[in-house]
Amino acid sequence: MTFTGPGHDDLIALLDFHVESGVDIALDEAPHDRFAEVDAPPPIRETPIALRREAPVDDGPAPRREPLRGHEPPPEPKPAAPRTFGGSASAKPEEAAVDARAKAAVTGSLEELEALLRDFEGCGLRFTAKNLVFADGNPAARVMFVGEAPGADEDRIGKPFMGRSGQLLDRMMAAIGLDRSSAYIANIVPWRPPGNRNPTPQEVAICRPFVERQIALADPEILVCLGAPSTQTLTGTKDGILKARGRFYPYRLPDGREIRALATLHPAYLLRQPVQKRLAWRDFRALKAALDGVK
Ligand code: URA
Repeated sequence: MTFTGPGHDDLIALLDFHVESGVDIALDEAPHDRFAEVDAPPPIRETPIALRREAPVDDGPAPRREPLRGHEPPPEPKPAAPRTFGGSASAKPEEAAVDARAKAAVTGSLEELEALLRDFEGCGLRFTAKNLVFADGNPAARVMFVGEAPGADEDRIGKPFMGRSGQLLDRMMAAIGLDRSSAYIANIVPWRPPGNRNPTPQEVAICRPFVERQIALADPEILVCLGAPSTQTLTGTKDGILKARGRFYPYRLPDGREIRALATLHPAYLLRQPVQKRLAWRDFRALKAALDGVK
């Protein structure tokens, strides 16, 4: 019988599986046989500095260890590569955030901002995502919805709120006479975190200048923050969403003008807790009243 190893497609499927499961970084270049390591004697600990002998003593060559049950001893592990934020980059997250702010500030249009994001390598999420998820809807709309981060459907399609939460958001908008031609939709983080994990605070900090620039360029009259991460990132409140929801927070644009940011529940939360839709309905009525009032 001839053994045929995994083919190219199998390896790609395995990598996809890892990415889907939330593995977003390789810690070492060589694979480890953890089973062999379990059988190996515990590593010899470094003697604490205070207990080290002053002068080196020649103890002779170290005794040779027997190979483990027919295995060669595992090679010495190489030190783990330092975690970088951006496959290219050596940049630390704080540096990436400063770089993001400087680059975002000079974009003069949403198209330029989107192009900048397509080239930006300072956030590691872009290397595991399939697509940039920049925006959907009408950038000239009076209202802009901001979610947290794309999920699998959005990553595949390249537009925000395409899956079940998006369908619910569409129905909520329709209830107050809005649709994607009269609303603009984006996320705090424009790349899907692998395995749908929450974006880390560092990833949010790196992406925040981009969404702030996106808001400034779209220039809506009212922002709607969907869920706690969006509300906390854009308004600065530390309150949980059940406390914050229904409130209009001041949101200052770079030119000094103030618009209002309404906090409300995220549609994904409403799918899990349908009984809370009554609260979201109150918020959407308040949104409609605000839009009618500021017309
Ligand atoms: N949830 C979000 O926060 N954004 C999306 O685009 C989809 C789901």
